[in-house]
Amino acid sequence: MLELVRRLFRRQKSLYGLDHAVLNVVLPLQSMWMNMGYWEHTSKFPEACESLLVEVLRAGLLEDKSQILKLLDVGCGCGDSSLYLTQKIQSDSKFAPSYESNSQVQAREITSQRSIDTYIGITLVPEQAAFAQQRIDESRKLNQEAASGFAEVFCADAADPSSWSGELKDSISHMADKSSDPKVGTWVLALDTMYHYRPSRLPLFQYANSTLNASIMAFDLILGSETTWKQRLFLRLTCWLTRSPYGNFVPQEEYKNLLIKGGYEPSQIEIRDISGHVFPGLVKFLNQRVKEGTPFGLNVSKFRAAELLFGWWANTGVIRGVIVTARKS
Ligand SMILES: *[C@@H]1O[C@H](CO)[C@@H](O)[C@H](O)[C@H]1NC(C)=O
Ligand SMILES: *[C@@H]1O[C@H](CO)[C@@H](O)[C@H](O)[C@H]1NC(C)=O
Ligand SMILES: *[C@@H]1O[C@H](CO)[C@@H](O)[C@H](O)[C@H]1NC(C)=O
Repeated sequence: MLELVRRLFRRQKSLYGLDHAVLNVVLPLQSMWMNMGYWEHTSKFPEACESLLVEVLRAGLLEDKSQILKLLDVGCGCGDSSLYLTQKIQSDSKFAPSYESNSQVQAREITSQRSIDTYIGITLVPEQAAFAQQRIDESRKLNQEAASGFAEVFCADAADPSSWSGELKDSISHMADKSSDPKVGTWVLALDTMYHYRPSRLPLFQYANSTLNASIMAFDLILGSETTWKQRLFLRLTCWLTRSPYGNFVPQEEYKNLLIKGGYEPSQIEIRDISGHVFPGLVKFLNQRVKEGTPFGLNVSKFRAAELLFGWWANTGVIRGVIVTARKS
């Protein structure tokens, strides 16, 4: 009894605290992005995440002359990239953006005279797959004019194409069908995800080359060129904490060799370091979010740890953030 009173009292006290912040958050959320972001032109998380996607798309598509795109988005999370690709890109002005974004303008550059006729997203988390699909369906209902082509999200392990279900394989077979038509560009998009792949990225590279005849565009992490044994030891620890295989953090040359082993021509591979526009901005944002969130009782301890980790990457260069393209030509 005493315990109950005490609890009620504690509740009561907190009524006058700051935790009604949660009631003021506008739901449903406009976005559920989750990547490291590209912070050159913004200090807002959703915009930075969208910008990273746009940077990767630009790297892949600006020089690609194909008019019809088929995209396999491996690691699509809650479907923000899916929405971006299946809606915003298709319709420019018809789709009102939730915020002014410089990347919108750049997106138009990539997509003028082009359409995405197949979009397939993959995520390892069932709840994310269901949520992403629901968002696509809802957004398509609202923007019927803009919605065209095929867009589905599947729950599957992108690291292991041999494990993919019949349904996913069926959808993908439509994608592979026309891969020799010069008007059609087939791409695998991997936004901030492949370093998690267990045991390695190679099965996906091989699948993209041999089965899909697809080009690859990605944001990924590699090992800096000069690392001390102490740094590598600490990296082992962080891999263990973040559940990423240590073997995935390889220097640029080794990364390139993996793509070559997968079937890509050395002359068709480009790796560009964009760390300077990724880690410092992310660290600054996390630092601010931790400071802002703590008084409202938001549990930000996880992000404090992430801030320290990315800060270490930014300062030492031990891990580099890169945009990778590997073209089939
Ligand atoms: C693979 O794609 C390239 C161009 O992207 C094309 O020239 C080639 O014929 C395709 N190969 C197969 C086996 O479809
Ligand atoms: C890559 O794909 C091409 C077909 O587009 C195939 O001829 C080649 O053997 C593949 N390379 C590897 C290493 O699987
Ligand atoms: C905050 O989250 C961490 C895990 O992310 C958990 O270990 C910790 O107990 C949580 N703290 C509070 C006050 O809920």
